[in-house]
Amino acid sequence: MRQDGLTQQISARPLLAVRGLNLDFGTPRGRIHALRNVSLDVPAGQVIGIVGESGSGKSTLAYTVMGLLPENADVTAGSILFEGKDLLKMPIPARRTLLGDRLSMIFQDPMTSLNPVRTIESQMIDIQHHDQGSRSEKRARALDMLLRVGIPDPESRIGAYPHHFSGGMRQRVCIAMALLVKPALLVADEPTTALDATLEVQIIHLLKDLQKEIGCSILFVSHHLGAVAELCDRVAVMYAGEVVEQGAVRDIFHNPAHPYTRALLECDPGRIKKSTRTLPTIPGEVPSLLGSKQGCIFRTRCRHAYNRCVQESPVEYRIGLDQVARCHLLAEERLVSA
Ligand SMILES: Nc1ncnc2c1ncn2[C@@H]1O[C@H](COP(=O)(O)OP(=O)(O)O)[C@@H](O)[C@H]1O
Ligand SMILES: [Mg+2]
Repeated sequence: MRQDGLTQQISARPLLAVRGLNLDFGTPRGRIHALRNVSLDVPAGQVIGIVGESGSGKSTLAYTVMGLLPENADVTAGSILFEGKDLLKMPIPARRTLLGDRLSMIFQDPMTSLNPVRTIESQMIDIQHHDQGSRSEKRARALDMLLRVGIPDPESRIGAYPHHFSGGMRQRVCIAMALLVKPALLVADEPTTALDATLEVQIIHLLKDLQKEIGCSILFVSHHLGAVAELCDRVAVMYAGEVVEQGAVRDIFHNPAHPYTRALLECDPGRIKKSTRTLPTIPGEVPSLLGSKQGCIFRTRCRHAYNRCVQESPVEYRIGLDQVARCHLLAEERLVSA
């Protein structure tokens, strides 16, 4: 029985499948290779976390999926299949129609998606423009959603402007707006980073409850490992534009295979038992993303690096059923254990 279930799970088409994605930013200093050969699946109804230090390409990936890239971005290879269609080949009007319908987004700064000179009410009604129903029905849905995201007495608050709300409340309004359209995929880029720890926990629980209720998938970008462990089913670890490891959350957190994932976990404040004055950081710096790269992208900061890491880019090695990592050491371990 179990085998059947697994086979079914593996063969089912994911909601979103990113394959071999390469993206450059043109700059006066040259081309910045911000995404290199990124492949990732978001299965229907699951929450996928993207973690990694600042500058690893997390936001670039999120914005590429949403089709919200700046002018200087250039996708040079790959595909992004969403519900079976390649978003990168879709005509612009068709892509626009998907936004705020099948795809929606929550940003780190709630003001990115709120218009400061319009009331919450008019914005929440407008966002339902794909839906049938009268203005009063849409208003009623907006009130219901505001209540569900924890805005007390929404009837008296809905006529207010964004600046009348605190930061935490504004982010709740954005979540309400993003979910009001019942998207198949919600992309959230560091939605809790600007909030304090208590608010962060509340927002994570809220997202978890609403995701179950609506049945959508979430691509959740965060550098907070605790939040990812709490919310996500799967996680992809990014480093300098590459996905270096991915798998089920429990496997990645309990049995990290890539030296970068291990280093990230060692530096996580949530895991450090002793009280320390200074938080540990991974020694060294993220390499420049200019120019072509040979070998393993993490080798300059890896204490296990050896000749092969300089010469050859590691392929994906499978660890167990549902975890993969790009590290030559995994091939060596395999030889040792064979
Ligand atoms: N519009 C842009 N033009 C040039 N470089 C950019 C642009 N946006 C992002 N980058 C660069 O791309 C890399 C990845 O950035 P980003 O996706 O924002 O990382 P993260 O979200 O993981 O912090 C960084 O080196 C960043 O400086
Ligand atoms: Mg970012």
